[in-house]
Amino acid sequence: MEATSRIDRVCQALRAADVSALAVVPGANLLYLLGLTMHSSERLAIAFIAQSGDVRMVLPALEQPRAAAEAQTEIQFYPWHDAEGYAQALGQCLDDLQLPGQLGVEYTTMRVMELRAIEQFGEVETVDATELIAGLRMTKDAAELDAMRAAVRAVEAGLRAAIDAIKPGATEREIAEVWERTMREAGSQGPSFTTIVASGPNSANPHYTTGDRRLQPGDLIVLDGGAQIGGYVSDITRTVALGEPSDEARKIYETVLAANRAGVAASKPGANGAQIDGAARQVIEDAGYGQYFIHRTGHGLGMEIHEPPYLHATSTAPLAAGTTFTVEPGVYVAGIGGVRIEDDVVLTENGAECLTNFDRELIIR
Ligand code: CO
Ligand code: CO
Repeated sequence: MEATSRIDRVCQALRAADVSALAVVPGANLLYLLGLTMHSSERLAIAFIAQSGDVRMVLPALEQPRAAAEAQTEIQFYPWHDAEGYAQALGQCLDDLQLPGQLGVEYTTMRVMELRAIEQFGEVETVDATELIAGLRMTKDAAELDAMRAAVRAVEAGLRAAIDAIKPGATEREIAEVWERTMREAGSQGPSFTTIVASGPNSANPHYTTGDRRLQPGDLIVLDGGAQIGGYVSDITRTVALGEPSDEARKIYETVLAANRAGVAASKPGANGAQIDGAARQVIEDAGYGQYFIHRTGHGLGMEIHEPPYLHATSTAPLAAGTTFTVEPGVYVAGIGGVRIEDDVVLTENGAECLTNFDRELIIR
């Protein structure tokens, strides 16, 4: 019945924003709002949720039985067959919706195909509903937090095994494989994104993709991975030194760790992303590494690995208890290497709780 109360909440939000209906395409929002697991394909599928709570959905006929079985709420289906196309089904659905008014659409998810189809068959004004839906998804309920905690346990079990496998001569890819295999054994249904093992010079690139470089003494190794359980994800980064690190590498590590702690300490209900980002960034700037912290401090996570809120200088909306996000400051200096320390946190009534609790002190292998 979870989805039913979610429908109530989305209808309230639509009324408050004076948006007549919401169009939702396959993806995380469709799963969150209606309980339907569908992936985008070349076949058009769009669900419409009206202010009244009526839910109508245009979809390929072959998808209807599964959608009907999965749906957590009553849906009026408008199926279409490959041979005839979706025109008639969509036209009928839009007629029955009795717009006009504004139709909220997912700006970062809906494709040109769906938008053009809606514009062709209905006289509607589309508006961005990204924030409206994000506002519902940002705060997690107890069941969602349980799934995230399970995903954290799996990724941390894998990280332990990955760090144990670090030795001179092992490749980045081998370490990533140990991590992914162990977290699968710990219950993960798959990595929540491509596991990153970035060693030596590669660690100085925050967007590095794991490769075949062999680990060498003197390397800093950034390990960034996530697990996925019950539709929810985790995301953790630790940085390990192989052999005794240089004084400067140590100083960078301690700076990033202090920034991580400052970011977590600034995380409390009512704070905004800019304040949390600012707290972490100030520590790094004070240590003289400000120009090497070249990304935002964190991102929301839940059903998706990157979702609102985003923690950067212009995130001014206050965050509510139950909001989940990462705190992941990093410093990347070519010629020395990179350090990032990432934790997942949930805002509580008076502060924040770290979901990830893996050792944060510098591990030297
Ligand atoms: Co990460
Ligand atoms: Co992250």
